[in-house]
Amino acid sequence: MDPLVDSYGRRIRNLRISITDKCNFRCTYCMPAEGLPWLKKAEILTYEEIERLARLAVRMGIEQIRLTGGEPLVRRDVPELVRRLRQIEGLHSLSLTTNGVLLKQLARPLAEAGLTRINVSLDSLVREKFARLTRRDQLDRVLEGLEELEKYPTIRPIKINAVAMRGFTEEEVLDFVRLARRKGYVMRWIEFMPLDADQIWRKEDILTGAEIKAIIEAEYGPLVPIQGDSAETARRYTFSDGVGEVGFINPVSEPFCSTCDRIRLTADGQLRTCLFATEETDLRTPLRSGASDEELMAIIRHAVWHKELKHYIGDKRFRRANRTMSMIGG
Ligand code: GTP
Ligand code: 5AD
Ligand code: SF4
Repeated sequence: MDPLVDSYGRRIRNLRISITDKCNFRCTYCMPAEGLPWLKKAEILTYEEIERLARLAVRMGIEQIRLTGGEPLVRRDVPELVRRLRQIEGLHSLSLTTNGVLLKQLARPLAEAGLTRINVSLDSLVREKFARLTRRDQLDRVLEGLEELEKYPTIRPIKINAVAMRGFTEEEVLDFVRLARRKGYVMRWIEFMPLDADQIWRKEDILTGAEIKAIIEAEYGPLVPIQGDSAETARRYTFSDGVGEVGFINPVSEPFCSTCDRIRLTADGQLRTCLFATEETDLRTPLRSGASDEELMAIIRHAVWHKELKHYIGDKRFRRANRTMSMIGG
């Protein structure tokens, strides 16, 4: 089968599947305090439907699948979905991005189901700051979840994602570095992007990866680059003593659109070819009205061909995406 490519020659290998729009947190940079109007159950793809689309995507050249949300672990029986997807021949990597609050209960079933990688979002190690940002006082549960994860060495690496925000993140950078080096977590900071429901994003609030790197280097000396895959979101570094890894995801100050290999499927079955897409391709309707595998693959191939060139954050041409972060899954 022909590789999945877009009109700019980018080969698509990575599919992010949002399995729910719901979340048990209300991070200020993502959702309003009152939540959002949730999708109805009938609008959400079943695990059978997700599996069918995932199988077709892998036949077309997708090598990595990441499950996202909302918060993916609030959906029932996620380990069952993991078990099904793990069986797809040709899939190299199956991972999950979670806020970690349910990991205490779910780390073991997820490991047993065959999950091999996980990214946990954690923006502060200070209880009061954590509660203010997520609007939930549950830092301890996330830390317990991480501790539980450590018991399952088949899920590695454990990556921590912190959204970097000016005036919030700086003072904890070195605490996160120490935690990561001590525990062997991969620590990554993500530049704040204009995808929040409350539209609080302002360019001045971004704390760039370069600024965080400077904070770390003032303490530890020059970081040592790690050569990763060119399509990776993060610029990765280790320390001069080789202990630990940090990464900077800099979509605003150093966009990585030219090497993007990602597409996204929303919980209600819409294919998005960019995080910042303003239009989507409906897969659910054909899926539910009897389309053949060939027909579905043709729809996917056509949508991918028209993948957006890049985002225009910080430019006059920028238009907000048609959905906010919790509906897309990051
Ligand atoms: P790894 O495969 O572990 O490197 O994961 P990842 O970085 O692809 O996924 P994760 O869910 O941890 O995402 C980290 C951050 O990168 C999130 O804030 C995402 O929104 C952001 N991100 C992921 N893909 C893209 C992208 O294509 N464009 C932009 N602008 N940001 C992205
Ligand atoms: N900008 C950058 N990252 C964000 N995330 C959520 N909202 C934003 C935003 N506006 C992060 C989450 C999670 C990942 C999937 O996306 O914290 O780590
Ligand atoms: Fe929930 Fe993730 Fe949005 Fe926070 S960023 S409210 S954890 S979906």
